[in-house]
Amino acid sequence: MQLISEILDLREIRRTWQNSAKVIAFVPTMGNLHQGHLNLVREAKKQADIVVVSIFVNPMQFGPDEDLDAYPRTLASDSRLLEDLGVDVLFMPQASDIYARGLEQQTFVEVPGLSYMICGASRPGHFRGVATIVCKLFNMVQPNLAFFGEKDFQQLQVIKAMVTDLSMNLKVFGVATTRDDDGLAMSSRNQYLKDKERKLAPTLYKKMQQLATEINSGRRDFITLTQEYKLQLAKLGFNPDYLEIRNVENLLQPGHEDRHLVLLAAAFLGKTRLIDNLQIRL
Ligand code: PAF
Repeated sequence: MQLISEILDLREIRRTWQNSAKVIAFVPTMGNLHQGHLNLVREAKKQADIVVVSIFVNPMQFGPDEDLDAYPRTLASDSRLLEDLGVDVLFMPQASDIYARGLEQQTFVEVPGLSYMICGASRPGHFRGVATIVCKLFNMVQPNLAFFGEKDFQQLQVIKAMVTDLSMNLKVFGVATTRDDDGLAMSSRNQYLKDKERKLAPTLYKKMQQLATEINSGRRDFITLTQEYKLQLAKLGFNPDYLEIRNVENLLQPGHEDRHLVLLAAAFLGKTRLIDNLQIRL
């Protein structure tokens, strides 16, 4: 595996692949890799000849009161895991190179609508930061395929919309959420959970499954239903941020004719914000 931190070096190696018919897959990450990330890499390896992974903790997608400084950085073990999986290139750029003119001056990419709702309403500017860095990384790596976790469902929809809107020449794949044995969706932020919180955390997904069962058995009063479940979560010790039932494609409120829905949730346990989602086919 080649370790690259300079954008120019990445461009150089990318040039050597230019004339080959090889399929290049890209898995952008912020590091602190867990099985969820590794499953993205495994999926990328199945579909491509060359796999590039990036590790970059992107300051532009963190709000002023969020965990940018505390975000776990575990480069040595991440690098070993990727090497073992047979990744070809690990790209680890510096923030000073990525945002060479400073964050204040940075040109940005923003997907309107999708970026402002649900998670975007709770984390203003977050999806602008995600779209901008993913667009920049796509320009650097120039992949044919890119892989993202379905765990960050809204992020995946934002990226797909950006790729369509900007006529980018690559295919975006969503990979199913990887869960611990007790059902908790894997996330680098799970390690912030205290023991008691970790025990309670899988209940978020269990409650979402119960809610989905109610919808499947005919309930359509979505507003009342989500309010009921938010209350239940609060009683259990969560501090729910949102619990929303949306159209799976555009994340708008579903109409009567919509048959493919997604249940999206975010809830705090102590200081840790958990997110999860569950698709429902009627
Ligand atoms: O999902 C993530 O880890 C990040 O949002 C991403 C896509 C790597 C952009 O920084």
